[in-house]
Parts: sequence; C-alpha cells; structure tokens
Amino acid sequence: MTIGNQADIDGVMQIGGVVAAVRDAMLAAIEPGMTTLELDQLGGGLLEEAGARSAPKVTYEFPGFTCISVNEEAAHGIPGSRIMSAGDVVNVDVSAELNGYFADTGATMVVPPISHTKARLCHATRVALDSALAEATAGVPINRIGKAIQTVAKKHRFKIIRNLAGHGLGRSLHEEPEGILGFYDRNDRRTLRAGQVIAVEPFLSTKSTEVETGDDGWTLIGVTGNLSAQYEHTVIITHGAPMIATLSAASR
Ligand code: CO
Ligand code: CO
Repeated sequence: MTIGNQADIDGVMQIGGVVAAVRDAMLAAIEPGMTTLELDQLGGGLLEEAGARSAPKVTYEFPGFTCISVNEEAAHGIPGSRIMSAGDVVNVDVSAELNGYFADTGATMVVPPISHTKARLCHATRVALDSALAEATAGVPINRIGKAIQTVAKKHRFKIIRNLAGHGLGRSLHEEPEGILGFYDRNDRRTLRAGQVIAVEPFLSTKSTEVETGDDGWTLIGVTGNLSAQYEHTVIITHGAPMIATLSAASR
C-alpha cells in the first residue's frame, strides 16, 4: 500500500508494534525441549490478546499462527512436534492484521551453545538488513536493496537464498512491489516511492542458494546441513530514513 494519511501511518505502526512484541516474546521463550507448537501457541495467544489476526492463517490458511523454521528449514515452517534443542537455529516469522492493516517481521536465534559460524550467520544477516534499510529511501532504485544485501553476504562469505524475497504489504500480507530481491538485479528498473510500505527480509545461508517446498506443502527447505538466518522489518518509505514499524519496544 501507499500511505494516504496519518491514520494509515498509525495503523501500520500499531500492527507493527504488535508483531514486533510477539516476535520478541517468542524468541525470549525458546528453550531446549520445547516444541515449535508450544512456541506458536504462545505467539497465537499474544496476537489474540492484542486483537490481531494471524496473517498467514487468514490469507493462506497456513496451519499455525506463526511460521517457525528450524535448521535446514529456511521459512514457512509449520509449528508442530519438532523439539528445539541446544545448537538449533530457530527462525520465528510473525505477520498479522489489525484494523485492516498488516505488518510482517522475522528474526533468528540460536539455542545456546552458539557456535562461531551460527553467531556470524545471524550477525551478518542483521547487518544485511540494516544495510538494506539504509538504502531504502524514496526515489532510489529498488535493486539497491538487493545490492546492499549481496555486498554484506559476500563480505561475510555467506550465500543468499535467491528465491526468497521481500515484498510490499499493508492492506494485505503480500502486495506490490513484489519480489524485492536479496541480490542485485540490474534489470529491475523500479524505484521506491514515498509512502510505500514494504517488508525487507534478507536470507543468508551457509550452503543453499535456493530452497524447495517440503512434503508438507509449506516448509521451504535448503540442502541437508544448510543453515540460514532471516531478519525482517516492515517499513514505510520516506524522503529520508524509513520509518521502521517493527522495532523492538526497547529501540522505539
Ligand atoms: Co515474514
Ligand atoms: Co515477509
């Protein structure tokens, strides 16, 4: 969507604050021995308390309130009986609707103990998101986002999952501009506009440059032994720095 008035800004920022708080509460609750279903139920309960509805559930009939992806799973993992253990790389992706506005956020954490490689993977992906957002200004080519992500991935010697991308959103979960790639595409001639609401979500990985849909029809999986990290913010494009709707409460 493109922001039309102050109510639109307030609506996006409000649901952004909700999904950010749910994301952070879920990350803080992860413990060895816990199932992804238990973690999802915590998230689902918090969304309900806030009066928000799970976006993947209402949009795609996704079988969960949130997406929880572990180790070789990069995205869209279905909450279930999988038990999280020491050393697991866990991604939580929370998107929801409130008063007709949508926001989408994600983050990755490692269940301690954290190896050097896993810590570096998470760090590099956070840096990639920050670096991409630093480019996200009205009038700038959309492909600068991918260029920024690619530069950070290369510097840290990680790969990029090329068939996962950021997207427009706001009045629904996925809108124009679709396909905000995590790598530089010289043929992408689109430009960011003031008021656009977009989700930026780099996926860096140790091995895979693509993910495939698993047997459950949802989970997007890399090659055996692959690890990936994703961090995602919903932002409103301005003529200066973007307004980040999904910051942690502590950094707002
Ligand atoms: Co997401
Ligand atoms: Co997204």
